[in-house]
Amino acid sequence: MTILGIESSCDETAAAIITSTKSNKVNLISNIVASSIAMHSKTGGIIPENAAREQIKYIIPVIKKALDDANLKPKDIDAIAVTYGPGLIGSLLVGVETAKTLAYVWNKPLIPTNHLLGHIYANFIYGQNENEIDFPAIGLIISGGHTDLLLINSHDDIKWLGGTRDDAAGEAFDKIGRLLNLPYPGGPNIEKLAKEGRAGKYFFPRPLIGSKDFDFSFSGLKTAVLREVEKNNEISKQTTADICLAAQESIVDVVTKKTLRAIEKYNAKSILLGGGVAANSRIRDAFESKINDRKLDVKLFAPEKYLCTDNGAMIATAAFFQSKEVSWKEIDARPGLYFDQT
Ligand code: KG4
Ligand code: ZN
Repeated sequence: MTILGIESSCDETAAAIITSTKSNKVNLISNIVASSIAMHSKTGGIIPENAAREQIKYIIPVIKKALDDANLKPKDIDAIAVTYGPGLIGSLLVGVETAKTLAYVWNKPLIPTNHLLGHIYANFIYGQNENEIDFPAIGLIISGGHTDLLLINSHDDIKWLGGTRDDAAGEAFDKIGRLLNLPYPGGPNIEKLAKEGRAGKYFFPRPLIGSKDFDFSFSGLKTAVLREVEKNNEISKQTTADICLAAQESIVDVVTKKTLRAIEKYNAKSILLGGGVAANSRIRDAFESKINDRKLDVKLFAPEKYLCTDNGAMIATAAFFQSKEVSWKEIDARPGLYFDQT
């Protein structure tokens, strides 16, 4: 099966082609991403109206390039997958309406795909991981808009265990970045600066770390950083780096502890990381070392960094495993889509 995946939920306009083999191996054939991050960097964050305009500009060229790079024509595609939520309504509409039109004109089935599941399914693209992914698995989505833990018993049995009550992990990185006058997005810049930070100079709260549920809360962390920033008239590069390290450690500690608690509770065999924050090397290393320290029999999976942030390949792959084809008439953008609706 050959699927064209289209993603336009936020500030990336993306399209990719995957093909599956008889043994359900998913091969990535082409993957094109146009990002409007540089523009949002100037405004310190995303202005939805601007993001939607950029989507309109890029959507057709990106889809055309994905087909050209794969050396395929529309007749070679078996289905079109598109993110229908969650996300920014203006951005989502661009991908959904384009996919609908193409499905109608090319006479192809459409597969509406949940963006959040897409992040987890990036792990199923062939070549991402050496090992087989065994179920049950715990999925941790850490992105700019979401922080969620999932129990994945099989492709057809996915349960939401908990999520953030306020800011998402990536949002916390971005807001802290802004407090420290770092360019948007904060995550990668905080990771870079944290390498120069001195351990133990600051300690920030780890909200809900001890709670029995699988919920998260990161808005208190942002406020704690704000209090530190307010104490200083001018913050030196070293102090900024120290704060970056302490804030990153707080997020790392919370997400690793909660995920490992879910692993132990559900006897899971795999951890699947996904979302932009999963590109953070410190988070990946912390998982590895905590798994080793506790001698847990669990394998860690994380997509290559370029597949952690938004892309069409993860959407096409999720669509392949979920395979809920509909006609072009039956799909609408759903900005508030969640897990019980997949
Ligand atoms: O998954 P994504 O591309 O978009 C959403 O679906 O939200 O995630 C973007 C988020 C941003 O908040 C960005 O700061 C964060 O991922 N991010 C990182 C890193 N790279 C991207 N956070 C921490 N460390 C990184 N290396
Ligand atoms: Zn995303």
